[in-house]
Amino acid sequence: MNYCVRMTDSVLPRRAFVVNGWLAKFDAIGRTAGGINRVAYSEADLAGRAFTLDLFRDAGLAPRIDAAGNIVGRLEGTEPSLPPILIGSHVDSVTDGGNYDGPVGSFGAIEVARSLREQGVRLRHPLEVVVWQNEEGGTIGSKLAIGELTDAGLDAVARSGKTLREGIGLVGGSVEKLAGAVRTRGSVHAYVELHIEQGGTLERSKLRIGTVTGIVGLRWLDVIIDGFANHAGTTPMDQRQDALLAAARFTVAVNDTVRAEAGGQVATVGRLVASPNTRNVIPGRIELTVDLRDLDAAKLDRLEARLRQLAAEIGRASGTTFRVNQATVSAPAMADTQMMEWIDQSATALGLPSQRMPSGAGHDAQEIAHIAPMAMIFVPSVAGISHSPREFTKAEDVVNGVDVLLNAVVRADQG
Ligand code: GLV
Ligand code: MN
Ligand code: MN
Repeated sequence: MNYCVRMTDSVLPRRAFVVNGWLAKFDAIGRTAGGINRVAYSEADLAGRAFTLDLFRDAGLAPRIDAAGNIVGRLEGTEPSLPPILIGSHVDSVTDGGNYDGPVGSFGAIEVARSLREQGVRLRHPLEVVVWQNEEGGTIGSKLAIGELTDAGLDAVARSGKTLREGIGLVGGSVEKLAGAVRTRGSVHAYVELHIEQGGTLERSKLRIGTVTGIVGLRWLDVIIDGFANHAGTTPMDQRQDALLAAARFTVAVNDTVRAEAGGQVATVGRLVASPNTRNVIPGRIELTVDLRDLDAAKLDRLEARLRQLAAEIGRASGTTFRVNQATVSAPAMADTQMMEWIDQSATALGLPSQRMPSGAGHDAQEIAHIAPMAMIFVPSVAGISHSPREFTKAEDVVNGVDVLLNAVVRADQG
């Protein structure tokens, strides 16, 4: 492994400049007063992908867009019969998000490939850099890459207002050819994703690298509550079917339910749209979202069932009706034991203190875990802030993460 560490050291100053320079330029794309807005399939997302495609080209990676709309670049290995090692992340963002969630791992992966190529280092395995489309809308690109989404699922409407079906076309994929983008079990040697931690554990512990042990499973529910829109002045208080009041009760019940037992489970009502949303009319309809997460799939089943039961009870008590639909499901995923060791060893070889830790955020890695050994490398998020315009990771931590990714790839190639 000395070989690898030496190679990393020799390009370190340039790499620090390169990846952080790319991030600084990328910050201008989709930047608004509220934060970074590169929501999948928006104009800014398309601009971000164009920027990323240029990085692939400059790195000599001759990118292609697969039928699912994922960007893929490939370095051939010395043993063409071997399955590829995959590295990458995403470049779309949440609404009013930051510039580091996704781009750090995407640009870091491009830089790893560029650095290997520039130095004439040939791995045994092919190396594929993948930038998955629409991660923030429910790991859509990686779900498509493992054949997880049904045709009916493609009619779901993304945050940009486009359906997934439309979105796939917009980013250069092809709904008719989706089967061609599916990767099967055994067709990928290993998947490694570099990402910002998005929490405060590493910073609190003064550690530089996190080796991810597992990624939470996630249930996204869309809830529609129907009451009756009526005059706010003339309808007596005991004769109302107030959908917003029911939504408020449900929101409190969601919070109480997940807090009522020990464990790391979390739930959030993050979006609420009221109709007609007017001062002097009782709200007749509410649409809201629930985001429920835990590492234990059985617990998620049980909590989801409880939330559905509470929705029905609150509906009955308030004269409203609740419809609860599952918008997205991602299963919890455990990292591969051997790959975690490669990451630990890479951090140690580079003199970077590290620890193992679970991920409370969802990632494309958890979808790819269905078909290949998976691992993730975390670098610190300042003040543990993410999905926020205040999201920030220090330049030196970005470089550390890319270093560990490079070293982990070389270990995976030999393993
Ligand atoms: C994705 O970043 C998620 O955890 O929601
Ligand atoms: Mn995110
Ligand atoms: Mn992310």
